[in-house]
Amino acid sequence: MKTIENEVMDVSDSLERAGVSFKGQRVLVTGGAGFLGSWVCDVLVRQGAAVTCIDNLTSGQLGNIEHLIKGEGFTYLNHDISEPIYFDSKFDTVFHMASRASPFEFAEHPIQILKANTLGIWVALGVAKEHGARFFYTSTSEVYGNPDPQFVPTPETYFGNVNSVGPRGCYDEAKRAGEAFVTAYNTQHGLDTRMVRIFNTYGPRMRSDDIYGRVVPRFIEQALKGKPITIFGDGNQTRSFTYITDQVEGILKLAGVEGLQNPVVNIGNNVEISVLQLAEAVISLTDSKSELSFHPLPIDDPDRRCPDISRAKELLGWKPKVGLEDGLRRFIEYMR
Ligand SMILES: NC(=O)c1ccc[n+]([C@@H]2O[C@H](COP(=O)([O-])OP(=O)(O)OC[C@H]3O[C@@H](n4cnc5c(N)ncnc54)[C@H](O)[C@@H]3O)[C@@H](O)[C@H]2O)c1
Repeated sequence: MKTIENEVMDVSDSLERAGVSFKGQRVLVTGGAGFLGSWVCDVLVRQGAAVTCIDNLTSGQLGNIEHLIKGEGFTYLNHDISEPIYFDSKFDTVFHMASRASPFEFAEHPIQILKANTLGIWVALGVAKEHGARFFYTSTSEVYGNPDPQFVPTPETYFGNVNSVGPRGCYDEAKRAGEAFVTAYNTQHGLDTRMVRIFNTYGPRMRSDDIYGRVVPRFIEQALKGKPITIFGDGNQTRSFTYITDQVEGILKLAGVEGLQNPVVNIGNNVEISVLQLAEAVISLTDSKSELSFHPLPIDDPDRRCPDISRAKELLGWKPKVGLEDGLRRFIEYMR
């Protein structure tokens, strides 16, 4: 089994072969104690960047970054990025990744989510503007809402179909506002900005508890414990699942290559499968006796999710390397 450390080294080496390196940079990462943020911090530190991580641990875990805190080149600040913060020495790149991201949290914490992607992005953009730093924002496939089927696979040019007053509005509209903030700082202040629209990403460090659990870790946890696999609706809704190392490599390529002008790029695996197929794959790979248990479909749950990744291929030479079965095996091994 590959350890997280080995996987981080692989991503870092692959980036270096592609000419992308953050060596010697000072980098700020908001949300760096989260699932994706901690992997980004790991690769940046591995490449020789000095990383400052801001996180208020609302959905992240100190355990994700404890090894970095103990090592060199990493500083952790417990701070809510919706509140102002100032730094004396300058950053070269700012990653704004702070935001709760699980649909289970949309009902419990809608205001925090809106604040992190509006007030929070405004604070983070202010730091980047003051320092003349490059700014990177983790947006989401959720900006597409429930896409018209003729726009699946979905290209970045699709404007979306979002219900601003529905239960997902706090997240989807917050991210759309975040993208507008980034674009405004690029237009008005000439800031070097980049945005990724992340499609469902899974892998080690993702939380699997009931409150937070997103579909892949939830299914694995249920399968490993022989509990019923909870499927919302009939399970025919589709998703496209990206293994963490592919996502982090895509993010850091987009953040690191030169000469881009406020690009917004889908990063996701373009193999579309149904939630039912995912459940069957997890049951088979864990050799589980779990049965399927069907529950009402949440309001505004998207019918289909699949990225058009032509832009990522063209601008970054990026495409996913880890197939679903391989990625699930790695994650199952980790969760065991
Ligand atoms: N994982 C995915 O599949 C996915 C998909 C689309 C977009 N994203 C985006 O990627 C980013 C990271 O997502 P993740 O999956 O790692 O989620 P996560 O919940 O694991 O990480 C988010 C981190 O942000 C921190 N945070 C939240 N609000 C904060 C605030 N106000 N101030 C400081 N820290 C705060 C949390 O404590 C957590 O550590 C988010 O912006 C999310 O919207 C993730």
